[in-house]
Amino acid sequence: MTAIGDWPLARRVRAAATRFTTPLLPDDYLTLFNPLWSVRELRGRVVSVTPEAEDAATLVVEPGWGWTFEHTAGQYIGIGVEIEGRFHWRSYSLTTPPARDGRRLVVTVRAMPEGFASRHLVHGIAPGTIVRLAPPQGEFVLPDPLPGKVLMLTAGSGITPIMAMLRTLDRRHGAGSLADVTVVHSAPDAERALFADELELLARRHPGWRVVQRHTATDGRLELAPGPREGSPRADRATGSSPRVGLDDVVPDWRERRTWACGPAAMLDDAEKLWADAGLTEALHLERFSADLSGGEAEGGTITFARSGKTVEVDGATTVLAAGEDAGIPMPFGCRMGICHTCVAPLRTGAVRDLRDGTEHRVAGEGATDSSHIAVQTCVTAAAGDCVIDL
Ligand SMILES: Cc1cc2nc3c(=O)[nH]c(=O)nc-3n(C[C@H](O)[C@H](O)[C@H](O)COP(=O)(O)OP(=O)(O)OC[C@H]3O[C@@H](n4cnc5c(N)ncnc54)[C@H](O)[C@@H]3O)c2cc1C
Ligand code: FES
Repeated sequence: MTAIGDWPLARRVRAAATRFTTPLLPDDYLTLFNPLWSVRELRGRVVSVTPEAEDAATLVVEPGWGWTFEHTAGQYIGIGVEIEGRFHWRSYSLTTPPARDGRRLVVTVRAMPEGFASRHLVHGIAPGTIVRLAPPQGEFVLPDPLPGKVLMLTAGSGITPIMAMLRTLDRRHGAGSLADVTVVHSAPDAERALFADELELLARRHPGWRVVQRHTATDGRLELAPGPREGSPRADRATGSSPRVGLDDVVPDWRERRTWACGPAAMLDDAEKLWADAGLTEALHLERFSADLSGGEAEGGTITFARSGKTVEVDGATTVLAAGEDAGIPMPFGCRMGICHTCVAPLRTGAVRDLRDGTEHRVAGEGATDSSHIAVQTCVTAAAGDCVIDL
């Protein structure tokens, strides 16, 4: 992707603006005329916020200068939203094919119970608001050509990257695509089911597509326990609870399908185990929306960001990434959950602890030199005492 500063038009305008605006930065003037005209950062304007099932909303964002519309269906973007004077960054999967809908970005956000940013995006943000953007990334994409048989296994807001894939396939092949695609989507009930009508419509447009929508409040959870079942679907008559339905009951040929799965962590953990037990790990592609950061407790301390010249005091639950952002430091990041390594920064002195499993990363010895640093993932580590990060 072209960096903003390398973008020819942006560079030309910036150069022209510099001649007329020195000593103030050209960005200060450009953004006065139009807040989307920033060559320093990617920005977008919220065009609309439309309710999408209960407690969820679809946000349409018009990106400003530097956005290239080159994403692949299944990828996510970063959205930085200002709440109470500070920018908070979260990741959201794009739900539309590239350059769709008049070159707008479309995401659907589920307001998490007690969720800080998601509640604001669904219930608080007004059209016209300027947000910061991070470019698309992620490996959760379909190969080209598509495998012969595909399974999309989703629950809750995990349908969002899959929606982008389905819409892209639909647009590419038009009605009547013969691709063999099965979608199994679970939601608590009809009120909270995202894109229910559109999924049914897509299934009707494409003879080879099958959509199974489940409501866990009445149907029970789809069981992803390993092993074939007998007498399916199995009703647990002994306890009188909902019928227990497994993947074999719903998609008997799942072992023959390449699968893309996205949903709550527990569902993905079960899927990972099921596919591993079947010796099919390679056929399963997962997208996780959250990392489990409860595996280790850090001590907290002070973090000095050496290049920025800032020192902050933090508790053991605040990641180095969040601490830097709170201090106004431009921190690199991607997934914010320990996968992509975009956030890696040199730890010069002291120690941080990985909140996923408690592993301590410590720079050996006092008086560390330039060559004695170690690289740490700032999005999943917190200060274990006083430390210095080279950012
Ligand atoms: C690659 C990627 C793509 C994503 N795409 C989407 C999307 O398309 N739509 C969407 O709604 N969300 C998506 N998310 C999740 C999103 O980034 C936020 O994590 C989510 O909106 C919650 O943010 P919050 O600030 O409201 O929650 P926070 O205030 O940060 O957390 C509130 C509470 O909710 C828990 N929590 C946070 N996120 C999750 C989660 N995903 N699952 C379970 N518990 C959680 C936290 O542990 C905490 O207890 C995606 C995440 C990633 C990494
Ligand atoms: S932001 Fe992806 S690993 Fe930290």
